[in-house]
Amino acid sequence: MDAEEGIRANRWHTDVTFVRTPPKVSTLRGIVVPPYGGNTLIANTGAAYRDLPQPLRELADRLWAVHTNDYDYAAPPRNTKAAEHRERFISRKYRTAHPVIRVHPESGERGLFIGGFAQSLLGLGPSASRDLLRIFQSSVVRPENIVRIAWSPGDVVVFDNRITQHYAPDDYGDLPRLLHRVTVAGDAPVGVDGERAYVLEGDEANHYTPAAA
Ligand SMILES: [Fe+2]
Repeated sequence: MDAEEGIRANRWHTDVTFVRTPPKVSTLRGIVVPPYGGNTLIANTGAAYRDLPQPLRELADRLWAVHTNDYDYAAPPRNTKAAEHRERFISRKYRTAHPVIRVHPESGERGLFIGGFAQSLLGLGPSASRDLLRIFQSSVVRPENIVRIAWSPGDVVVFDNRITQHYAPDDYGDLPRLLHRVTVAGDAPVGVDGERAYVLEGDEANHYTPAAA
């Protein structure tokens, strides 16, 4: 796909978290790489959680976030194709409640599970939601927690969406850039209290990403 999903994903996010069972793993393969820019940044959300002071970890452990596709995801569409994509992207509205701290189902590691689709916190107003999400997200984007992938054609990068966010800087002008993405079906995130993510609006969205068996 050109850039990612036909739009420039220059916003920190984890793929498709507005549904209940977002993909657990994404792979990207470099096909056409611009001579400069066009990197992919990947952040370790487990390290971000451990970096939080204990009182904030304890608060985050108990919070749930509403993730939705109904917001301004990325740079405004530059052309008709991108505008049509955006139309399609928000033509069905999804809202899902996910724990702010996701317990990794294989390692048991705790990680911040927020990113760009997390637009509010359950039980809190817009102002407190925004401020707290900003504080948690500032831990995710510390340079210490980020790896930067400088693509060469043929490179393959595999990342675990259950414990990462990613970002594609919009710094390559109008140069062509093509990465192919393959995702692996995932399960519903589980919080520290053992509760699972649940749908607030929309359906299981199996056309986006099937749930793992
Ligand atoms: Fe993405």
